[in-house]
Amino acid sequence: MREYRGSIALYEESRRHMAGGVSSNVRYASVPVPLFFACGEGARLIDVDGNVHIDYVLGNGPAILGHAPPEVIKAVADSLADGQVFAAQHRRESALAKRLCGLLPGAELVRFCTSGTEAAMMALRIARAFTGRRKIVKFEGHYHGWTDQTYISVRPTGNEAGPANAPVPVAESPGTAPGSLDDVIVRGWNDLQGLEALFAKEGAEIAGVIMEPVMVNGGAILAQAGYLQGVADLCRRHGALFICDEVITGFRAGLTGAQGRFGFTADLSIYAKAVAAGFPLAMVTGRRDVMEILQTRGVMHGGTYNGNVQSMAAALAALDLLERDGGAVYAAMEKRGERLMRELQALGKRHGLPILAQGLPTIFQTFITTDPPPRNFREAAATDRDRAMALSRALQDEGVRVNQRCSWFLSAAHDDATIDETLAAADRAMARVVAG
Ligand SMILES: Cc1ncc(COP(=O)(O)O)c(C=O)c1O
Repeated sequence: MREYRGSIALYEESRRHMAGGVSSNVRYASVPVPLFFACGEGARLIDVDGNVHIDYVLGNGPAILGHAPPEVIKAVADSLADGQVFAAQHRRESALAKRLCGLLPGAELVRFCTSGTEAAMMALRIARAFTGRRKIVKFEGHYHGWTDQTYISVRPTGNEAGPANAPVPVAESPGTAPGSLDDVIVRGWNDLQGLEALFAKEGAEIAGVIMEPVMVNGGAILAQAGYLQGVADLCRRHGALFICDEVITGFRAGLTGAQGRFGFTADLSIYAKAVAAGFPLAMVTGRRDVMEILQTRGVMHGGTYNGNVQSMAAALAALDLLERDGGAVYAAMEKRGERLMRELQALGKRHGLPILAQGLPTIFQTFITTDPPPRNFREAAATDRDRAMALSRALQDEGVRVNQRCSWFLSAAHDDATIDETLAAADRAMARVVAG
Protein backbone atom coordinates (compact mmCIF):
# COMPACT_ATOMS: atom_id res chain seq x y z
CA MET A 1 0.00 0.00 0.00
CA ARG A 2 1.35 3.44 -0.91
CA GLU A 3 2.02 6.00 1.79
CA TYR A 4 0.93 9.62 1.40
CA ARG A 5 2.34 10.96 4.70
CA GLY A 6 4.19 13.86 3.06
CA SER A 7 1.06 15.01 1.23
CA ILE A 8 -1.02 14.71 4.39
CA ALA A 9 1.44 16.84 6.39
CA LEU A 10 1.75 19.47 3.63
CA TYR A 11 -2.00 19.63 3.22
CA GLU A 12 -2.45 20.29 6.95
CA GLU A 13 0.14 23.05 6.68
CA SER A 14 -1.37 24.65 3.57
CA ARG A 15 -4.86 24.69 5.10
CA ARG A 16 -3.57 27.23 7.61
CA HIS A 17 -2.92 29.78 4.88
CA MET A 18 -4.87 28.73 1.79
CA ALA A 19 -8.66 28.58 1.77
CA GLY A 20 -9.41 24.88 1.96
CA GLY A 21 -5.73 24.17 1.28
CA VAL A 22 -6.22 24.18 -2.51
CA SER A 23 -6.37 26.61 -5.43
CA SER A 24 -9.36 24.97 -7.14
CA ASN A 25 -12.31 23.15 -5.57
CA VAL A 26 -11.91 20.38 -8.14
CA ARG A 27 -8.72 19.35 -6.35
CA TYR A 28 -10.55 18.27 -3.18
CA ALA A 29 -11.56 15.14 -5.05
CA SER A 30 -8.14 13.51 -4.63
CA VAL A 31 -7.63 10.86 -1.90
CA PRO A 32 -6.64 10.52 0.90
CA VAL A 33 -6.02 14.29 0.72
CA PRO A 34 -5.31 16.66 -2.17
CA LEU A 35 -1.93 15.26 -3.20
CA PHE A 36 1.27 17.28 -3.43
CA PHE A 37 3.52 16.65 -6.41
CA ALA A 38 7.21 17.37 -6.60
CA CYS A 39 7.64 17.21 -10.37
CA GLY A 40 6.47 15.71 -13.63
CA GLU A 41 8.22 14.41 -16.69
CA GLY A 42 6.60 12.91 -19.75
CA ALA A 43 3.77 10.58 -18.75
CA ARG A 44 4.78 10.51 -15.08
CA LEU A 45 4.34 12.58 -11.95
CA ILE A 46 6.28 12.08 -8.72
CA ASP A 47 4.56 13.05 -5.49
CA VAL A 48 6.29 14.39 -2.39
CA ASP A 49 6.29 10.89 -0.87
CA GLY A 50 8.28 9.61 -3.83
CA ASN A 51 5.34 7.70 -5.35
CA VAL A 52 5.51 7.60 -9.14
CA HIS A 53 2.17 8.01 -10.92
CA ILE A 54 1.55 7.26 -14.59
CA ASP A 55 -0.57 10.33 -15.13
CA TYR A 56 -3.83 10.23 -17.10
CA VAL A 57 -5.13 13.45 -15.54
CA LEU A 58 -2.53 15.61 -17.29
CA GLY A 59 -3.58 18.76 -15.46
CA ASN A 60 -7.17 18.01 -16.55
CA GLY A 61 -6.17 17.93 -20.18
CA PRO A 62 -3.52 20.49 -21.13
CA ALA A 63 -0.39 18.32 -21.02
CA ILE A 64 -1.00 16.82 -24.47
CA LEU A 65 2.77 16.50 -24.99
CA GLY A 66 3.35 15.10 -21.50
CA HIS A 67 4.77 16.99 -18.55
CA ALA A 68 7.61 19.44 -19.18
CA PRO A 69 7.99 18.77 -22.93
CA PRO A 70 11.60 19.85 -23.68
CA GLU A 71 10.90 21.74 -26.93
CA VAL A 72 8.15 23.81 -25.34
CA ILE A 73 10.22 24.46 -22.22
CA LYS A 74 13.09 25.65 -24.40
CA ALA A 75 10.88 27.98 -26.44
CA VAL A 76 9.44 29.49 -23.26
CA ALA A 77 12.88 29.77 -21.64
CA ASP A 78 14.20 31.51 -24.77
CA SER A 79 11.33 33.99 -24.58
CA LEU A 80 11.78 34.92 -20.91
CA ALA A 81 14.40 37.57 -21.44
CA ASP A 82 12.14 39.33 -23.96
CA GLY A 83 9.71 40.25 -21.19
CA GLN A 84 6.32 38.94 -20.13
CA VAL A 85 3.54 41.48 -20.52
CA PHE A 86 3.58 44.65 -22.61
CA ALA A 87 -0.03 45.84 -22.42
CA ALA A 88 0.45 45.96 -26.17
CA GLN A 89 0.83 43.70 -29.18
CA HIS A 90 3.85 41.69 -30.22
CA ARG A 91 5.02 39.52 -33.09
CA ARG A 92 4.57 36.10 -31.47
CA GLU A 93 0.93 36.92 -30.81
CA SER A 94 0.06 37.80 -34.39
CA ALA A 95 2.13 34.88 -35.71
CA LEU A 96 0.14 32.48 -33.53
CA ALA A 97 -3.19 34.05 -34.53
CA LYS A 98 -2.30 33.64 -38.21
CA ARG A 99 -1.43 29.97 -37.76
CA LEU A 100 -4.58 29.23 -35.78
CA CYS A 101 -6.83 30.95 -38.31
CA GLY A 102 -5.19 28.89 -41.04
CA LEU A 103 -5.79 25.69 -39.12
CA LEU A 104 -9.04 25.68 -37.15
CA PRO A 105 -12.47 25.23 -38.76
CA GLY A 106 -14.49 28.43 -38.79
CA ALA A 107 -11.69 30.49 -37.24
CA GLU A 108 -11.77 33.70 -39.29
CA LEU A 109 -10.64 35.79 -36.34
CA VAL A 110 -9.25 34.95 -32.92
CA ARG A 111 -9.06 36.76 -29.56
CA PHE A 112 -6.75 35.45 -26.82
CA CYS A 113 -7.41 35.24 -23.08
CA THR A 114 -6.04 33.06 -20.29
CA SER A 115 -8.65 30.54 -19.12
CA GLY A 116 -11.49 28.52 -20.58
CA THR A 117 -13.87 30.12 -18.09
CA GLU A 118 -13.08 33.58 -19.45
CA ALA A 119 -13.36 32.38 -23.03
CA ALA A 120 -16.85 31.03 -22.33
CA MET A 121 -17.85 34.34 -20.70
CA MET A 122 -16.59 36.23 -23.72
CA ALA A 123 -18.38 33.98 -26.20
CA LEU A 124 -21.71 34.36 -24.38
CA ARG A 125 -21.35 38.13 -24.26
CA ILE A 126 -20.53 38.27 -27.96
CA ALA A 127 -23.53 36.06 -28.75
CA ARG A 128 -25.90 38.30 -26.78
CA ALA A 129 -24.46 41.48 -28.28
CA PHE A 130 -24.50 40.13 -31.85
CA THR A 131 -28.06 38.80 -31.76
CA GLY A 132 -29.59 41.36 -29.39
CA ARG A 133 -31.17 38.40 -27.56
CA ARG A 134 -30.87 37.29 -23.92
CA LYS A 135 -31.19 33.55 -23.61
CA ILE A 136 -28.46 30.94 -23.75
CA VAL A 137 -29.12 27.21 -24.09
CA LYS A 138 -26.75 24.89 -22.24
CA PHE A 139 -26.89 21.17 -21.60
CA GLU A 140 -27.03 19.11 -18.43
CA GLY A 141 -23.62 17.78 -17.43
CA HIS A 142 -21.67 20.18 -19.68
CA TYR A 143 -19.06 22.36 -17.96
CA HIS A 144 -18.06 25.75 -19.32
CA GLY A 145 -16.23 27.17 -16.30
CA TRP A 146 -17.36 28.31 -12.90
CA THR A 147 -19.05 31.69 -13.55
CA ASP A 148 -22.58 32.48 -12.42
CA GLN A 149 -23.88 32.18 -15.97
CA THR A 150 -22.27 28.82 -16.76
CA TYR A 151 -21.89 26.86 -13.51
CA ILE A 152 -25.46 25.72 -13.85
CA SER A 153 -26.81 22.15 -14.06
CA VAL A 154 -23.33 20.65 -14.30
CA ARG A 155 -24.05 17.81 -11.86
CA PRO A 156 -27.64 18.29 -10.76
CA THR A 157 -29.12 15.59 -8.58
CA GLY A 158 -32.34 13.80 -9.54
CA ASN A 159 -34.72 15.70 -7.29
CA GLU A 160 -33.74 19.24 -8.15
CA ALA A 161 -33.12 18.71 -11.86
CA GLY A 162 -36.75 18.41 -12.99
CA PRO A 163 -38.08 16.32 -15.90
CA ALA A 164 -35.65 15.01 -18.53
CA ASN A 165 -37.42 16.79 -21.40
CA ALA A 166 -37.47 20.19 -19.66
CA PRO A 167 -34.82 20.30 -16.93
CA VAL A 168 -34.90 23.04 -14.32
CA PRO A 169 -31.71 25.15 -14.33
CA VAL A 170 -29.84 24.43 -11.12
CA ALA A 171 -27.26 26.89 -9.72
CA GLU A 172 -24.45 24.64 -8.54
CA SER A 173 -22.73 27.06 -6.17
CA PRO A 174 -23.96 29.03 -3.20
CA GLY A 175 -23.51 32.71 -3.96
CA THR A 176 -24.66 32.50 -7.57
CA ALA A 177 -26.60 35.67 -8.42
CA PRO A 178 -30.24 34.52 -8.50
CA GLY A 179 -30.90 36.37 -11.77
CA SER A 180 -28.26 34.26 -13.53
CA LEU A 181 -30.75 31.47 -14.00
CA ASP A 182 -33.32 33.68 -15.73
CA ASP A 183 -31.51 33.76 -19.05
CA VAL A 184 -30.31 30.16 -19.17
CA ILE A 185 -32.32 27.32 -20.66
CA VAL A 186 -31.08 23.84 -19.80
CA ARG A 187 -31.76 20.80 -21.96
CA GLY A 188 -30.65 17.17 -22.07
CA TRP A 189 -27.89 16.58 -24.62
CA ASN A 190 -28.10 14.41 -27.74
CA ASP A 191 -31.81 15.16 -28.16
CA LEU A 192 -32.23 17.08 -31.41
CA GLN A 193 -36.01 16.79 -31.40
CA GLY A 194 -36.20 18.31 -27.94
CA LEU A 195 -34.03 21.21 -29.08
CA GLU A 196 -36.13 21.72 -32.22
CA ALA A 197 -39.25 21.91 -30.06
CA LEU A 198 -37.56 24.48 -27.81
CA PHE A 199 -36.52 26.62 -30.79
CA ALA A 200 -40.02 26.39 -32.26
CA LYS A 201 -41.33 27.95 -29.05
CA GLU A 202 -38.61 30.29 -27.87
CA GLY A 203 -36.22 30.60 -30.82
CA ALA A 204 -36.69 34.36 -31.17
CA GLU A 205 -35.20 34.88 -27.70
CA ILE A 206 -32.23 32.52 -27.99
CA ALA A 207 -28.86 34.21 -28.51
CA GLY A 208 -26.78 31.05 -28.56
CA VAL A 209 -26.38 27.38 -27.82
CA ILE A 210 -23.20 26.34 -26.03
CA MET A 211 -22.00 22.75 -25.75
CA GLU A 212 -19.02 20.47 -25.43
CA PRO A 213 -18.97 18.67 -28.81
CA VAL A 214 -17.95 15.54 -26.94
CA MET A 215 -19.53 15.62 -23.51
CA VAL A 216 -16.29 15.03 -21.66
CA ASN A 217 -17.14 16.48 -18.27
CA GLY A 218 -20.33 14.48 -18.00
CA GLY A 219 -18.81 11.19 -19.17
CA ALA A 220 -16.81 11.31 -22.45
CA ILE A 221 -19.98 10.77 -24.45
CA LEU A 222 -20.01 11.20 -28.23
CA ALA A 223 -22.70 13.07 -30.10
CA GLN A 224 -25.11 10.84 -31.98
CA ALA A 225 -24.93 10.77 -35.76
CA GLY A 226 -26.19 14.05 -37.25
CA TYR A 227 -26.61 15.79 -33.89
CA LEU A 228 -23.80 18.36 -34.14
CA GLN A 229 -24.65 19.37 -37.70
CA GLY A 230 -28.33 19.35 -36.73
CA VAL A 231 -27.67 21.83 -33.91
CA ALA A 232 -25.56 24.01 -36.22
CA ASP A 233 -28.37 24.07 -38.81
CA LEU A 234 -31.03 24.75 -36.21
CA CYS A 235 -29.09 27.71 -34.80
CA ARG A 236 -28.56 29.14 -38.26
CA ARG A 237 -32.25 28.80 -39.17
CA HIS A 238 -33.24 30.73 -36.05
CA GLY A 239 -30.48 33.36 -36.10
CA ALA A 240 -28.83 32.04 -32.92
CA LEU A 241 -25.10 31.37 -32.62
CA PHE A 242 -23.71 27.87 -32.15
CA ILE A 243 -20.87 28.09 -29.60
CA CYS A 244 -18.65 25.05 -29.55
CA ASP A 245 -16.67 24.58 -26.34
CA GLU A 246 -13.50 22.90 -27.56
CA VAL A 247 -11.62 23.62 -24.33
CA ILE A 248 -10.96 19.90 -23.94
CA THR A 249 -11.49 18.57 -27.46
CA GLY A 250 -9.38 21.28 -29.13
CA PHE A 251 -5.97 19.89 -30.17
CA ARG A 252 -7.00 16.61 -28.52
CA ALA A 253 -9.83 15.18 -30.64
CA GLY A 254 -7.29 15.86 -33.40
CA LEU A 255 -5.25 18.78 -34.68
CA THR A 256 -8.44 20.52 -35.81
CA GLY A 257 -10.49 19.57 -32.75
CA ALA A 258 -13.95 18.05 -32.71
CA GLN A 259 -15.07 20.25 -35.58
CA GLY A 260 -12.36 18.93 -37.85
CA ARG A 261 -12.89 15.36 -36.70
CA PHE A 262 -16.67 15.30 -37.04
CA GLY A 263 -17.01 17.74 -39.94
CA PHE A 264 -19.13 20.64 -38.73
CA THR A 265 -18.47 24.33 -38.12
CA ALA A 266 -19.68 26.45 -35.24
CA ASP A 267 -20.19 30.22 -35.33
CA LEU A 268 -17.97 30.73 -32.29
CA SER A 269 -15.54 28.29 -30.65
CA ILE A 270 -13.58 28.40 -27.46
CA TYR A 271 -10.24 26.66 -26.94
CA ALA A 272 -7.83 26.39 -24.00
CA LYS A 273 -5.86 23.59 -22.30
CA ALA A 274 -3.91 21.61 -24.93
CA VAL A 275 -3.34 24.63 -27.19
CA ALA A 276 -0.32 25.73 -25.13
CA ALA A 277 0.63 22.30 -23.77
CA GLY A 278 0.28 23.35 -20.12
CA PHE A 279 0.84 27.11 -20.21
CA PRO A 280 -2.17 29.36 -19.53
CA LEU A 281 -3.84 30.24 -22.81
CA ALA A 282 -7.41 30.29 -24.03
CA MET A 283 -9.17 31.92 -26.95
CA VAL A 284 -12.39 32.57 -28.76
CA THR A 285 -12.40 32.01 -32.51
CA GLY A 286 -15.17 32.39 -35.03
CA ARG A 287 -16.95 34.13 -37.86
CA ARG A 288 -15.45 37.45 -38.91
CA ASP A 289 -18.76 39.33 -38.83
CA VAL A 290 -19.41 38.10 -35.30
CA MET A 291 -15.92 38.51 -33.84
CA GLU A 292 -15.57 41.99 -35.36
CA ILE A 293 -18.14 43.41 -32.98
CA LEU A 294 -15.47 43.40 -30.27
CA GLN A 295 -14.12 46.39 -32.15
CA THR A 296 -16.96 47.80 -34.21
CA ARG A 297 -19.52 47.80 -31.41
CA GLY A 298 -17.22 48.07 -28.42
CA VAL A 299 -18.19 44.73 -26.91
CA MET A 300 -15.83 44.69 -23.94
CA HIS A 301 -13.15 42.08 -23.53
CA GLY A 302 -10.04 42.78 -21.49
CA GLY A 303 -7.35 40.98 -19.52
CA THR A 304 -3.88 41.97 -18.30
CA TYR A 305 -2.28 38.66 -19.22
CA ASN A 306 -4.02 38.15 -22.57
CA GLY A 307 -1.47 37.30 -25.24
CA ASN A 308 1.41 37.24 -22.74
CA VAL A 309 4.78 36.44 -24.29
CA GLN A 310 5.36 33.05 -22.64
CA SER A 311 1.95 31.60 -23.46
CA MET A 312 2.37 32.65 -27.09
CA ALA A 313 5.84 31.11 -27.21
CA ALA A 314 4.54 27.89 -25.67
CA ALA A 315 1.64 27.61 -28.11
CA LEU A 316 3.87 28.25 -31.14
CA ALA A 317 6.28 25.54 -30.01
CA ALA A 318 3.44 23.13 -29.17
CA LEU A 319 1.90 23.69 -32.61
CA ASP A 320 5.24 22.90 -34.27
CA LEU A 321 5.19 19.51 -32.58
CA LEU A 322 1.50 18.79 -33.05
CA GLU A 323 1.56 19.69 -36.75
CA ARG A 324 4.81 17.85 -37.52
CA ASP A 325 4.60 15.13 -40.23
CA GLY A 326 0.93 15.85 -40.92
CA GLY A 327 -0.11 15.38 -37.29
CA ALA A 328 1.66 12.03 -36.87
CA VAL A 329 1.55 12.44 -33.10
CA TYR A 330 -2.24 12.11 -33.19
CA ALA A 331 -2.14 8.86 -35.16
CA ALA A 332 0.22 7.41 -32.54
CA MET A 333 -1.88 8.61 -29.59
CA GLU A 334 -5.07 7.26 -31.17
CA LYS A 335 -3.53 3.84 -31.69
CA ARG A 336 -2.38 3.60 -28.09
CA GLY A 337 -5.63 4.99 -26.73
CA GLU A 338 -7.68 2.49 -28.73
CA ARG A 339 -5.57 -0.33 -27.36
CA LEU A 340 -5.93 0.95 -23.81
CA MET A 341 -9.72 1.22 -24.14
CA ARG A 342 -10.00 -2.24 -25.66
CA GLU A 343 -7.75 -3.96 -23.16
CA LEU A 344 -9.25 -2.26 -20.10
CA GLN A 345 -12.61 -3.64 -21.17
CA ALA A 346 -11.10 -7.09 -21.70
CA LEU A 347 -9.47 -6.97 -18.26
CA GLY A 348 -12.80 -5.98 -16.75
CA LYS A 349 -14.42 -8.99 -18.37
CA ARG A 350 -11.78 -11.26 -16.92
CA HIS A 351 -12.39 -9.87 -13.44
CA GLY A 352 -16.19 -9.90 -13.76
CA LEU A 353 -16.27 -6.07 -13.68
CA PRO A 354 -18.50 -4.66 -16.44
CA ILE A 355 -16.11 -1.97 -17.69
CA LEU A 356 -17.31 0.22 -20.52
CA ALA A 357 -14.64 2.44 -22.07
CA GLN A 358 -16.37 5.27 -23.93
CA GLY A 359 -15.20 8.42 -25.70
CA LEU A 360 -12.24 9.14 -27.96
CA PRO A 361 -8.91 7.32 -27.76
CA THR A 362 -7.20 10.48 -26.45
CA ILE A 363 -9.91 11.19 -23.86
CA PHE A 364 -12.23 8.50 -22.62
CA GLN A 365 -13.99 7.39 -19.47
CA THR A 366 -14.33 3.92 -17.97
CA PHE A 367 -17.81 3.33 -16.59
CA ILE A 368 -18.88 0.34 -14.59
CA THR A 369 -22.25 -0.61 -16.00
CA THR A 370 -24.19 -3.39 -17.64
CA ASP A 371 -26.59 -0.89 -19.24
CA PRO A 372 -26.26 0.32 -22.85
CA PRO A 373 -23.64 3.08 -23.28
CA PRO A 374 -24.87 6.35 -21.72
CA ARG A 375 -25.97 9.03 -24.19
CA ASN A 376 -26.37 11.97 -21.82
CA PHE A 377 -25.72 13.17 -18.29
CA ARG A 378 -28.63 11.37 -16.64
CA GLU A 379 -27.70 8.03 -18.15
CA ALA A 380 -24.05 8.53 -17.14
CA ALA A 381 -25.14 9.39 -13.60
CA ALA A 382 -27.02 6.08 -13.38
CA THR A 383 -23.84 4.01 -13.80
CA ASP A 384 -22.04 2.49 -10.80
CA ARG A 385 -20.18 5.55 -9.51
CA ASP A 386 -19.17 4.03 -6.19
CA ARG A 387 -17.24 1.25 -7.83
CA ALA A 388 -15.80 3.69 -10.41
CA MET A 389 -14.44 5.71 -7.48
CA ALA A 390 -13.11 2.55 -5.86
CA LEU A 391 -11.37 1.69 -9.13
CA SER A 392 -9.86 5.16 -9.35
CA ARG A 393 -8.50 4.79 -5.80
CA ALA A 394 -7.16 1.29 -6.47
CA LEU A 395 -5.48 2.51 -9.67
CA GLN A 396 -3.78 5.30 -7.75
CA ASP A 397 -2.43 2.82 -5.24
CA GLU A 398 -1.12 0.74 -8.15
CA GLY A 399 0.63 3.72 -9.71
CA VAL A 400 -1.92 4.98 -12.26
CA ARG A 401 -3.55 8.36 -11.81
CA VAL A 402 -7.02 8.94 -13.27
CA ASN A 403 -9.62 11.32 -11.88
CA GLN A 404 -12.34 10.17 -9.51
CA ARG A 405 -14.80 9.46 -12.32
CA CYS A 406 -12.14 7.42 -14.14
CA SER A 407 -11.50 9.74 -17.09
CA TRP A 408 -8.33 8.99 -19.03
CA PHE A 409 -6.43 11.71 -20.93
CA LEU A 410 -3.61 10.49 -23.17
CA SER A 411 -0.49 12.39 -24.14
CA ALA A 412 2.17 11.91 -26.77
CA ALA A 413 4.45 10.76 -23.94
CA HIS A 414 2.31 7.69 -23.16
CA ASP A 415 4.33 5.22 -25.23
CA ASP A 416 3.71 1.49 -25.69
CA ALA A 417 5.75 0.53 -22.63
CA THR A 418 3.73 2.99 -20.52
CA ILE A 419 0.49 1.44 -21.77
CA ASP A 420 1.83 -2.06 -20.92
CA GLU A 421 2.67 -0.88 -17.42
CA THR A 422 -0.73 0.76 -17.06
CA LEU A 423 -2.56 -2.41 -18.06
CA ALA A 424 -0.57 -4.49 -15.57
CA ALA A 425 -1.47 -1.99 -12.84
CA ALA A 426 -5.13 -1.96 -13.93
CA ASP A 427 -5.17 -5.76 -13.68
CA ARG A 428 -4.08 -5.55 -10.04
CA ALA A 429 -6.42 -2.63 -9.31
CA MET A 430 -9.46 -4.46 -10.70
CA ALA A 431 -8.61 -7.53 -8.62
CA ARG A 432 -8.66 -5.28 -5.53
CA VAL A 433 -11.98 -3.70 -6.45
CA VAL A 434 -13.56 -7.10 -6.98
CA ALA A 435 -12.13 -8.35 -3.68
CA GLY A 436 -13.78 -5.28 -2.05
C1 LIG B 1 -15.22 21.94 -21.55
C2 LIG B 1 -14.63 22.96 -20.62
N1 LIG B 1 -14.93 24.26 -20.81
C3 LIG B 1 -14.43 25.22 -20.02
C4 LIG B 1 -13.60 24.90 -18.96
C5 LIG B 1 -13.04 25.98 -18.10
O1 LIG B 1 -11.68 26.14 -18.37
P1 LIG B 1 -10.66 26.75 -17.29
O2 LIG B 1 -10.52 25.74 -16.20
O3 LIG B 1 -9.41 26.99 -18.07
O4 LIG B 1 -11.27 28.01 -16.80
C6 LIG B 1 -13.25 23.57 -18.74
C7 LIG B 1 -12.35 23.19 -17.63
O5 LIG B 1 -12.17 22.05 -17.29
C8 LIG B 1 -13.79 22.57 -19.58
O6 LIG B 1 -13.53 21.27 -19.38
